Amino acid sequence: MIQNTPSANVRIVFLSFAVAVAAAVGLAGCGGGGSADTGDTIKIGEFASLTGATASFGTASHNGAIMVIDAANGAGGVLGKKIKLITEDDQSKPGEAATAVRKLISRDRVVALIGEIASSRSLEAAPIAQQNKIPMVSPGSTNQNVTKVGDYIFRVCFIDPFQGTVMAKFTLNSLKKTRVAVLTDVRQDYSVGLSQYYKDFLTKNGGTVISEQSYSSGDQDFKAQLTSIKGANPEVVFVPGYYNEVGLIARQARELGITVPILGGDGWDSPTLTQIGGAALDNTFFSNHFSVEDQNPVIQNFVRDYRERFKKDPDGMAALGFDAAKVLLDAMTRAGSTEPAKVREALAGTVDFQGVTGKISIDPERNATKPAVVLAIKDGAFRYAETIAP
Ligand code: PHE
Repeated sequence: MIQNTPSANVRIVFLSFAVAVAAAVGLAGCGGGGSADTGDTIKIGEFASLTGATASFGTASHNGAIMVIDAANGAGGVLGKKIKLITEDDQSKPGEAATAVRKLISRDRVVALIGEIASSRSLEAAPIAQQNKIPMVSPGSTNQNVTKVGDYIFRVCFIDPFQGTVMAKFTLNSLKKTRVAVLTDVRQDYSVGLSQYYKDFLTKNGGTVISEQSYSSGDQDFKAQLTSIKGANPEVVFVPGYYNEVGLIARQARELGITVPILGGDGWDSPTLTQIGGAALDNTFFSNHFSVEDQNPVIQNFVRDYRERFKKDPDGMAALGFDAAKVLLDAMTRAGSTEPAKVREALAGTVDFQGVTGKISIDPERNATKPAVVLAIKDGAFRYAETIAP
């Protein structure tokens, strides 16, 4: 054992020297992509919130991604090479996603990136991926601006102008309500955008916003905002936040005697939501990317494999992490290359790819157009309510 240490050190030094020389000569012999397509592995970087406030987003999407990569490696890999997924935990913290992506690109020289779920974190990382011309596929960031960063930034999910419309339609047509209150997390680009699109569609189609309140991620006491909302007597409260705060908001709302339906978006999707919110979440509804109750065999096979491996049900992020990895590997296969520019082209040409979150076609803005499901929460369980198409 002791004898291994010096030789291991020598090897590391030698490797860093080799990397430095390769960088100095502009990687002339490495496929011309500017990134290493080294030897017999393909390096893909993943940045995810494995810990911190939204840990369930990152762990679930990571689980989905490793299912795909392990299966591909088990079947011989992609383009004859094994895939190495290098995962960085951004701890759900602002600033960390950018640091993670810088490391993955300059230290690990990944050829492509998977991440993030939360829009604010994708928005801080995307400019770095774009500058370095490394394709990035976000599993779940729905804020409209994410893919506007540039032509190397993709996603496999629908976007918030659609998601906001879905919940506004659900309010007006399914619940038949018009007078709403909106409670927004002003620290999250996702929440700010989704509130706006919800209000836009609602007010253009006969609804009225009678109270608008806000909070910041990490807050624990929402009684002042909820008291004001209660005074306005809305028929529905729209809370497009993330699960921790939403669980608390639901409880405090019910304690204050707000009994009307509470609605939200995909940011609610976590088993932690019902652990926090409990019975206060009865009579609440949210839009999402996927339902475990969908009987489509593609989905049921995924649900079965996920349960077998992780001993729990997959949520929307798990399904999106799975689809992001699948779409990326499919693009590499079709490109016949891991050169970032070629993978980018192939990603842009994704048409009718059968994922577990629906059929994925990448549009000219590098977004996926797909239906959304609305889930109802009843006795702590997420029940399929309806599907709303774009
Ligand atoms: N759409 C959310 C965002 O953009 C993240 C999310 C995706 C949350 C999927 C849950 C499920 O921030």
